[in-house]
Amino acid sequence: MCGIIAYKGPREAVPIVIEGLKKLEYRGYDSWGVASVSGKRIAVHKKVGKVGKAVSSEIRLKGNTAIAHTRWGTHGGITEKNAHPHLSCDGKYAVVHNGIVENYQELKKKLIGEGHKFVSESDTEVIVHLIEKEAGKGLKNAVQKVAGELKGRSAFVVMTAEGEIAASRKGSPLIAGKGNGEYYIASDIPAFLEHTNKVMYVDDNEMLVIEDSEIKFYSIATGKEIQKRTVEIDWKSESAEKGDYKHFLIKEIMEQKDTLWRAINQDESKIINVANEIKNAYGTFLVGCGTAGKVCMTGEYLFAKIAAKHLNHAIASEFPSYEPFLTSKTLMIAVSQSGETADVLEAIESAKSKKAKVISLLNVFGSTMMRVSDEFFIVNAGTEKAVVSTKATTAQLAVLTLLAYAAAGKLGEGKRLLLDTASAVNDMLNPRYEEHIRKLAERLRSNENIYIIGRSLNYPMALEAAIKIQETSYIHAEGFAGGELKHGPIALISKGTPCIALVANDHVKDETISNAMEIKSRGGYIIGISPENNDVFDYWIKVPDAGNASPIVNIIPIQILAYQLAVLKGLDPDMPRNLAKSVTVK
Ligand code: M6R
Repeated sequence: MCGIIAYKGPREAVPIVIEGLKKLEYRGYDSWGVASVSGKRIAVHKKVGKVGKAVSSEIRLKGNTAIAHTRWGTHGGITEKNAHPHLSCDGKYAVVHNGIVENYQELKKKLIGEGHKFVSESDTEVIVHLIEKEAGKGLKNAVQKVAGELKGRSAFVVMTAEGEIAASRKGSPLIAGKGNGEYYIASDIPAFLEHTNKVMYVDDNEMLVIEDSEIKFYSIATGKEIQKRTVEIDWKSESAEKGDYKHFLIKEIMEQKDTLWRAINQDESKIINVANEIKNAYGTFLVGCGTAGKVCMTGEYLFAKIAAKHLNHAIASEFPSYEPFLTSKTLMIAVSQSGETADVLEAIESAKSKKAKVISLLNVFGSTMMRVSDEFFIVNAGTEKAVVSTKATTAQLAVLTLLAYAAAGKLGEGKRLLLDTASAVNDMLNPRYEEHIRKLAERLRSNENIYIIGRSLNYPMALEAAIKIQETSYIHAEGFAGGELKHGPIALISKGTPCIALVANDHVKDETISNAMEIKSRGGYIIGISPENNDVFDYWIKVPDAGNASPIVNIIPIQILAYQLAVLKGLDPDMPRNLAKSVTVK
């Protein structure tokens, strides 16, 4: 998490990095800061809160070189002191950092013993003191030495009072951009895309130095120079705007009218080839985090039901427990919107170390996962700005459904089902439907708990529904497999407890309805999400009868409900508290 941007060139640097920072806010938004060099002096400006609210003209820093940072705190409270950039004791070095310095306590103790004065609780501060300590060796050598000493995944940028910039990447994203006599370093391309589309990818364990208007790349391990290609990115400058919508979240939910078509529109021969690889692999792992992890779990059910093929899903942060089963015949399918999630990247690294093949399902083109995977699919949902994932989720579900049908030798059938589903979603997303769900949100907004049940393909969606409600409304929400309720959780049900039942027209419909009955008998208030109404439902939300695509249609009303709950409770649906869009720390 955290977003970094640096600029060095002939223009006023601060407005450029502040605007860039606003494009990185999805990576964290609890505080921000900027530092620039003017007259061989580094000046810093920091604030708690979102950079989106910052007005460049109010930041009185000048100079042609600047670094900036938007924070998702890991070490130390959300205070100006803990916000980046951090300065060395002599004020001649400033550092911004994304990641965690796992051995910071040991390093800090040593530095304090050597006389360094720390002003924050942040792990990052050790980096700037270490740079100061090694500075006599020259900037390049200092960065190489310090990068080698840090444990954990991180990327940092150093700026000197002389106006030099250097950066290191070890496990967290970092990209360089080249303009006309100017350079940018950032966590992600959109931060500088309005200025240049010429990028140089910094790979893991590499560093760079910008001196005398020249950029040079080096291996951190050997210090040897690395020649880099400049790649021209064929993207338009980040144009995702809210348009007539009040929030990105509802805009992105509504965009599912289009995004499903785009997700399905994959290269058929690639789908068939990958489906064959899945069929022939000696063990396939679907790996992801959060919502993408629930998509992976759905994938396991989809392949079992449609292709009679057993795949394993694993939450990426738990994947180390499965590492002993990796061989060169294993296939890993990594699912990620951003393509930057640290736990997924670690799982990919361990798969690659065993020579297993890695195929990724991603939304962000050019992401780290795209570059480190053997093959990838872009799910084409378009820029997803809201922290709460919606359109990328259903796009991932659509591609996995296609793959499952292709693995069963029924790609045509799968495609027809998904096209029908896309068309049904298009009809479903209308103002009357939204209003019906808003009324339910009114009923639920003051509840302390909401439970969701589902079976088979819709069990992972019950878990995903809980994530959606938690993220936007801060209401305690929990998903259960319908059959599990009577083994414990049913004790939580009392008069009026809301419980959402995800019911598809499938082989587990009757059992799910029975589970809803069991809850209702104990006073529960049953909200049915289903193609047909049922006596057990106190509130019914109709969804299209989508067969094996039911996870897609069942999660959409929950997304709308989550949005409406946030709005009714006066919360920010786009940037919920404590979260970040791209989770680049473990
Ligand atoms: O970018 P990724 O898909 O790898 O992100 C994984 C999770 O962090 C993400 O799905 C998260 O759970 C969302 N905020 C859910 O809405």
